[in-house]
Amino acid sequence: MYKEHQSNEIVHTAIATPNIALVKYWGKRDDKLILPMNSSISMTLGEEFNTRTSVLFTDRIKEDIFYINGERQDLSNKDVIERFTIIDIMRRMAGRDDRVMVASENSFPTAAGLASSASGISALVFAVNAALGLNLNEKDMSIIARQGSGSACRSLAGGFVKWEKGSRVDGADSHIRQIAKADHWPDLIDIVVIVSSSKKKVSSRSGMKQTVETSTLYKARPQYAEHMCAEVEKAITDRDFESLGLLTIRDSNNMHAVMLDTYPPILYLNDVSKEIMLAIDDLNSSEGKIIAAYTFDAGPNANILTLEKHRGKVEKAISGIEGIKKLHVTKAGSGPRLAGEGESLIDASILKIKRTE
Ligand code: PMV
Repeated sequence: MYKEHQSNEIVHTAIATPNIALVKYWGKRDDKLILPMNSSISMTLGEEFNTRTSVLFTDRIKEDIFYINGERQDLSNKDVIERFTIIDIMRRMAGRDDRVMVASENSFPTAAGLASSASGISALVFAVNAALGLNLNEKDMSIIARQGSGSACRSLAGGFVKWEKGSRVDGADSHIRQIAKADHWPDLIDIVVIVSSSKKKVSSRSGMKQTVETSTLYKARPQYAEHMCAEVEKAITDRDFESLGLLTIRDSNNMHAVMLDTYPPILYLNDVSKEIMLAIDDLNSSEGKIIAAYTFDAGPNANILTLEKHRGKVEKAISGIEGIKKLHVTKAGSGPRLAGEGESLIDASILKIKRTE
């Protein structure tokens, strides 16, 4: 039996979204602290895709409890371990040792082929920060999120975000900085093209380690990516789509090239991804300038950046490609936020998750 509900126990709920990298992070200089070889830049996405996470710290339970999409998780599951790395860091910071109940839900199907770890981890950090009264700012929260999953740290701020690689061995200067807010570039859109919903065979964690260890081409990437970050930041600040588009395409291609140069080779792109690349290239050639830019993370699904006025042309350009399952259109989002009591996923009085839908 649970002890009686303490009236001072409050459920804290946060909502956060994924991000799409424009200059990619691929390779660590410290595997444990998750310190990257190069800085990276991303756009935080709108709430069309989001993770909602509720947390309740309580001494009424004897062990931590974690639910994802209504299902109780085994605490030895890899995704859950990533999340507890974070919870444990924050519990230590707050000097607390009470257990936690977490319930997390993705607005998009988990098998939709969209990265849920960035939105999941950033929502968790945001909710735990509020629940433990830590009062951390987004920079400090990003240092914690980074230690769960690197790219997740960029979802702690909205709009356009740079993750500075830093140089300190303790990682204290490896954190995010917002380049521009979500409303900086209102007509910039991201068409998310779902090609496959299956889970990737090589995890990014082990894939990037193999790349650093074996790829000859990779040796040139960290310095190149740093230069790309400076150029991409300028293109964003100037709202210069042609530059941003070219840099985005080139950096995605560069990352997938070093993946192929890894031994054994890592191939995340499939034939449909390649058809999308060629269709966008044809479109840009026929327009005589770059009006759309594709980019791929560790999977075959494309994100196509373009301006609202070109949306029809882009959709037409890829419409004949067999194997495209779905398109979602989104924009820059404003980052994580706390949600009200009505959006909580936990009923504190009976320590049960609420059924949504
Ligand atoms: O944070 P991880 O371990 O999931 O790394 C993912 C890295 C890429 O998505 C491929 C690129 C990026 O910067 O997001």
